[in-house]
Amino acid sequence: MYQAPRGTQDILPEDIPYYLHVEEAARKFAALYGYQEVRTPTFEDSGLFRKGTGETTDIVEKEMYSFIDKGNSDLTLRPEATPSVMRAYLQHGLHNQPQPVRLFELLGCFRYDRPQAGRWREFHQFDVEAIGEDDPLVDAELITLFWRFCEALGLGELSLELNSIGDPLCRPLYLEALRTHYSPHLEQLCRDCRRRLATNPLRLLDCKIPTCQPIADTAPAFTDHLCDACSAHFAHLQASLKAEGIVPSVNRRLVRGLDYYTRTVFEMYPPKVGQQAALGGGGRYDGLAELLGGRHTPAVGFASGIERLVLNLKEQGVEVPASSPTVAYIAHVGESAEALAVASNFVRQLHARGISAIRAVGQRSLRARLRHADAAGVHWTVLIGDQEVSAGTVSLRDMAQREPVGVPAAQAIDLIVAAAREHSDDR
Ligand code: HAM
Repeated sequence: MYQAPRGTQDILPEDIPYYLHVEEAARKFAALYGYQEVRTPTFEDSGLFRKGTGETTDIVEKEMYSFIDKGNSDLTLRPEATPSVMRAYLQHGLHNQPQPVRLFELLGCFRYDRPQAGRWREFHQFDVEAIGEDDPLVDAELITLFWRFCEALGLGELSLELNSIGDPLCRPLYLEALRTHYSPHLEQLCRDCRRRLATNPLRLLDCKIPTCQPIADTAPAFTDHLCDACSAHFAHLQASLKAEGIVPSVNRRLVRGLDYYTRTVFEMYPPKVGQQAALGGGGRYDGLAELLGGRHTPAVGFASGIERLVLNLKEQGVEVPASSPTVAYIAHVGESAEALAVASNFVRQLHARGISAIRAVGQRSLRARLRHADAAGVHWTVLIGDQEVSAGTVSLRDMAQREPVGVPAAQAIDLIVAAAREHSDDR
């Protein structure tokens, strides 16, 4: 029998309330902060990610789902949203709108990652981007949105890690300091780090291999090497976050695994920190638009992993709103009852009045019908058997009270509609 491909999952109805809770909060918070929804394609030209996400990232080096289509185009299932959102901004001339353009997207992403708890090959993100402004107030706005969104979901004891990784002016000098620090330790470094020293020295700082730790821990901090403009930007951001009551911890080793970041980088963590536990992360990417062939356009954003959020909601025992069960179940027992149920069109009448209802199918016993009604969690069961057919009534059972009452068919519909309306007014 076929199984879902490794690293993918089926989300069954019992888990859907967690996903709805997260997606509804995402939409609510995005709207609250003035971010508009955008939807970009599931696949893009591979070059967009090679250039945008960056040739030296793990994503581009090892994790892309790329393919040549029947028209010979080199395409990739998107591993993230940021290059796509920036491409859309440039392609549609959104720089003509008031800046920054605030956009968000709920999307599926694909990375050929090693599957483990909270790490999938197909996963979903809540991605939020503000394009066209370099004011640190925008960085603070996004971090605040992310923080308050997680709080509103019911996630507690969050921590925020923050760093600045400079701009093209100060980064070369910092990288030089980093190389000078690392060069005497070449022998102790893991293979990846030795390679990164030449290709992408910033990534040396977030290596997780034990032998590399002491060297990374004693490396110079970028925050001590920022140029005046980056330094002022970072200070302003921290002051703005403080005003929001958000106190990040500055992590000098936080660099993030994507090449486009400049200045601000951040990650949000739940209380139980594991290697892959970030609820989300982001930062500023002032150089991406130019990399993609556009004019200079500062921007900042973050993305949060929806599966990670759900995992943490479950781990923290957060109760999420249950999905509404079907209201009514029309259950005939016997053939003449079936004929009556079909002829009187209970289900259609209920649907026409906005009440969810299902009709029994097949020939089953009364007990089997009631078991089905219980399992489906319906509020009302309309039972029609031979007795009801000859009396011209139906037995209406409120599933919370075991005894059914005999009522004329039309009245059963009115009773269900009135009770359902009362119930929804109470909520
Ligand atoms: P990222 O750190 O690669 O950043 O991913 C953001 C979040 O997506 C992670 O913190 C995690 O919650 C989730 N995530 C990543 N990979 C997986 C996976 N294999 N399985 C499950 N969840 C995963 C970005 O994608 C950037 N585009 C964020 C950004 C937006 N930066 C600026 N704007």
